[in-house]
Amino acid sequence: MSAAAGTTTTRRLSAPDIRSRKAGDKIVMLTAYHTYTARIVDDHCDVILVGDSLGNVLYGFDTTLPVTLDTMILHGQAVMRGSKKALVVVDLPFNTYEASKEQAFASASRIMQETGCGAVKLEGGVRMADTIDFLRGRGIPVMGHIGLTPQSIHTLGSFRAQGRAEAAQLAQGGNGAGPIEEDGRAVAEAGAFAMVVEAVAEPLARRITQSSPIPTIGIGASAACDGQVLVLEDLLGLLPRTAKFVRRYGELGLSVQQAVEAYAADVRGGAFPAAEHTYNLF
Ligand code: KIV
Repeated sequence: MSAAAGTTTTRRLSAPDIRSRKAGDKIVMLTAYHTYTARIVDDHCDVILVGDSLGNVLYGFDTTLPVTLDTMILHGQAVMRGSKKALVVVDLPFNTYEASKEQAFASASRIMQETGCGAVKLEGGVRMADTIDFLRGRGIPVMGHIGLTPQSIHTLGSFRAQGRAEAAQLAQGGNGAGPIEEDGRAVAEAGAFAMVVEAVAEPLARRITQSSPIPTIGIGASAACDGQVLVLEDLLGLLPRTAKFVRRYGELGLSVQQAVEAYAADVRGGAFPAAEHTYNLF
């Protein structure tokens, strides 16, 4: 309660708030790309991700590679306008941070300044550690993203689960950390406040979570992660196809189809607009 105004003020969650949730209450995170969905998500989530998955979901691209910084900023602004409580994290899109730490700072600082969001997310583990450290040291909280990193689709070759061989080796008694575990360690040591672990074999995601000092947020990873994230439109059942790791909590695609069919039939049959939808002279 703000004593001066006598009104209730809500403090937005910050990156340090989320960092402090390691092994605590589960972190609930969803994507949102626009104001009104952000408003709904904000009531129930700790973190709203303005993900570059908007390239697939909103714009119909096959990959996230064509998404630009300006597009992310526009959607980041929309989500900030629709939310009050959740930490808003905006993705750094492809080709706006990989070339150098300075390029990453220029892009991330634009996102922070022009949207007012609380953090950025970038993809990559060991190879991005110096950049994460550079950004954090200059006041920009960074969420890491390891495992399946969709911006690297052309080097990965497909969207399949990562780390199966690494997990199998561990199951057979090997104890040296493999590349994905090294990525997790590097992201945490570099000073990220949390990391997304995407499509990583369950035992490996569990092991990374257990050894990581920062919260892990799983998507197709493990129930042991410190939190979970999904793409909102996947959860709503708006998209025809969803990945194995998605639980559909609605069938919005079907509802939209039924509503559009009913509207088209009403217009064609003269049932819409009815008298109450038109303006009288007085
Ligand atoms: O862009 C995105 O929506 C993401 C999530 C899938 C984690 O990075």
